[in-house]
Amino acid sequence: MTDPATLTLDGKSYDYPVMSGTIGPDVVDIRKMYGQTDAFTYDPGFTSTASCQSKLTYIDGDQGVLLHRGYAIGDLAEQSSFMEVAYLLLNGELPSQGELKTFSTTITRHTMVHEQLATFFRGFRRDAHPMAIMCGVVGALSAFYHDSTDIHDPAQRVIASHRLIAKMPTIAAMAYKYSVGQPFLYPDNSLSYTGNFLRMTFGVPAEPYEVNPAVEKAMDRIFILHADHEQNASTSTVRLAGSSGANPFACIAAGIACLWGPAHGGANEAALNMLREIGTPERIPEYIARAKDKNDPFRLMGFGHRVYKNYDPRATVMQKTVREVFDALKVNDPLFDTALRLEELALNDDYFVEKKLFPNVDFYSGVILSAIGFPTSMFTVLFALARTVGWVAQWNEMITDPDQKIGRPRQLYTGPTQRDYVPVGQR
Ligand code: CMC
Repeated sequence: MTDPATLTLDGKSYDYPVMSGTIGPDVVDIRKMYGQTDAFTYDPGFTSTASCQSKLTYIDGDQGVLLHRGYAIGDLAEQSSFMEVAYLLLNGELPSQGELKTFSTTITRHTMVHEQLATFFRGFRRDAHPMAIMCGVVGALSAFYHDSTDIHDPAQRVIASHRLIAKMPTIAAMAYKYSVGQPFLYPDNSLSYTGNFLRMTFGVPAEPYEVNPAVEKAMDRIFILHADHEQNASTSTVRLAGSSGANPFACIAAGIACLWGPAHGGANEAALNMLREIGTPERIPEYIARAKDKNDPFRLMGFGHRVYKNYDPRATVMQKTVREVFDALKVNDPLFDTALRLEELALNDDYFVEKKLFPNVDFYSGVILSAIGFPTSMFTVLFALARTVGWVAQWNEMITDPDQKIGRPRQLYTGPTQRDYVPVGQR
C-alpha cells in the first residue's frame, strides 16, 4: 500500500489515496478534493490526469513500449491479424481458433450497409474530403440501426460494436469510390476483412479483382498498428461523448471528428504532404531549421508525441513494412529516402534530441499508403477505420465501469466579474 498523498492548502492538510495499476505510474485519487477544499486542479491537455481506469492498452512512453491487453505491439503486428487484435481488445484474451472463426464470420456478416445509405452519400459534393463524409455517414448510422442504440442493453451494445467494426471498411471504401466517381462495390464475404476492404476500394464491377496477398498483409498490419492507443484525444472524445449516454454511432462519429485534426490522425496526410514539399534530401536542413524556429508555426509532421519520448514502436514496424510493400509491388518512392534522411538528420540534431522528438506512427505510413494507391485524403480515413476497434472497446469498457460518470471538467474562470447590463442605445 502506498502512503496517501498530502495536499496543503490555506494552512490545512488533506490526504488523498494513491492508487496503483498493474504497471505504470501511480495515480492520486483527487475525486473528493473539490468537495473538501473548494479548489480544482489545473491541467489543460490532461498532461497529468488519468481520466479513467482501463485494462486495454498500456504505453511506456520513455521506453517506447505499447501493449494491448499485455501483448507487445511488435508481436501482434508480426504474428497476429487485425481480426484477432479486434477480438483481443474487445474480449480481453486472444481467441481460440474456433472463437476467431466465429468472430470473423460475425463481423463479415455485418459488412453490408443499409441500401438507403448509398443515397445519403449522394448528398455530398464529389470533392468533399472523405473525413468530412466519414463524420457525416458514421453519425448517420444511428438513424439506420435503431435496434442497436440502447446502451443499457448488453446485447445491443455487442451488435452495435460488431456493426461499427464491420461497416467501417464498407463506408471508407464508399467514401473513396464517391470521390473518384466510380460505382460502390458490395462486400464479398469470401474475402478477409482487409482483402474485402481492398477490393471494395480498388476493384470495379467490370472485372474481377485479385487481392495481392503482400498488400493485404501489409494493410492488415497497418490496421493492427492503429487499433488502439490508450486515452488519446479521439478515444477520450468517444468516452466523453459516451459518458452522457449518447448512442455508440454518435460517439464514434465524435471520435472521427477529433481524429481528423493534423495534430492527431490528420498527421499522416500532413506528413506525406510535407515530404512531397521537401522533395529532395538537399532541402531537409531548410525544413529542420523551420521546425526549430519559434517564430515559424511549421512542425515536422510525423515527429513528436505526447506520450512517447522514445522511438514510437509502431514507427519501427511501419518503417519495415515500407520495404515489404515496395518489394511486393516492385515500386520505389524516392520520398522514402527523403524520409529516412530526414529522420537521421533530426535524430542527430540537438533540438530534437533535447525535446525527445522521434518519428511517430504517421511518419512512414503515408509512404506505404501512397505506394498501395491511396490518395493522401484517404490516409486519416484508414486510421479511423482501424481505430474504430479501439474506440468501440474503450466505449464498452466505459459503459460497464462502475466509476463512470458524465465527463464534466471544470475551469479557472478569468473573464469579467458580474456587471450591469447597459441597453444598446446607451453603449
Ligand atoms: N516539430 C518541431 N517541434 C516540435 C514538434 C515537431 N513535430 N513536436 C513538438 N515540438 C516541440 C514544441 O514546439 C515544444 O517546444 P517548446 O517546449 O520549446 O515549446 C515541445 O516540442 C513540446 O511540444 P508540445 O506541442 O508541447 O507537445 P505535445 O505533447 O502537446 O504535442 C504533438 C504532441 C504530437 C501534438 C506534437 O509533437 C506535434 O504537433 N507533432 C506533429 C504532429 C504529429 O505528428 N502528430 C501525430 C501524433 S501520433 C499519431 C496520433 O496520435 O494521432
